[in-house]
Amino acid sequence: MNEHDFRSMRRNYGKSELVETQISPNPFDQFSHWFKEAKASGILEPNAMSLATASKSGHPRNRIVLLKEINATGLVFFTNYLSQKGQDLEENPYASALFFWDKEERQVRFDGKVEKISREESEAYFLSRPFESQIGAHASIQSSTIPNREFVESKYEDMKEKYSGQIVPIPDYWGGYILIPEVIEFWQGRSSRLHDRIEYKKSNNQWTINRLSP
Ligand SMILES: Cc1cc2nc3c(=O)[nH]c(=O)nc-3n(C[C@H](O)[C@H](O)[C@H](O)COP(=O)(O)O)c2cc1C
Repeated sequence: MNEHDFRSMRRNYGKSELVETQISPNPFDQFSHWFKEAKASGILEPNAMSLATASKSGHPRNRIVLLKEINATGLVFFTNYLSQKGQDLEENPYASALFFWDKEERQVRFDGKVEKISREESEAYFLSRPFESQIGAHASIQSSTIPNREFVESKYEDMKEKYSGQIVPIPDYWGGYILIPEVIEFWQGRSSRLHDRIEYKKSNNQWTINRLSP
């Protein structure tokens, strides 16, 4: 593995800065501002976030999910409620979501509690998805062990036939979650590793802002 020379791989950051006089008092506005810039920079999936969960025993896991909505309450994503992450969230509702936007030399982290969104909201989103994605949700019990690839492909074909020409119903086990953040950190890479870190913390429904040491 040494041929990769990980030790000498490093970049110096200098594209931008994050200073108290320019940030928004509301972290969601700040996120929206940065998201616009991430999107404009040509990042392939700026709404991809790494979602970390932990089981009751404290074993962490993370995976990428797509942010599908952000509102004044939190971040909405969709998944299979029976998946590993769904099981983790059932046991322990705390999670952390991280965006890394390399072209902007930025990361943003949201830590908080996760809740299921309403059935109506999940259904409305499910119905807006392409037919193939809807069928995919019916064909897969996400995170379960399967014997081979053909197993899921043949289930997909069965479901495609079953629902052909019909409105595909939302599976009971599929839907959205909302991560309601308590802490949000914005990180901007700076030179000499003296990065900017601004943390928003919620207490009594107010956001307080602190600078963290890099
Ligand atoms: C770019 C990208 C986007 C993804 N988006 C989602 C998503 O929105 N929802 C989802 O359930 N899985 C998504 N996945 C797959 C997850 O990373 C993961 O494999 C899956 O949800 C099962 O995770 P779990 O076993 O930890 O529950 C995405 C993967 C990638 C790489």
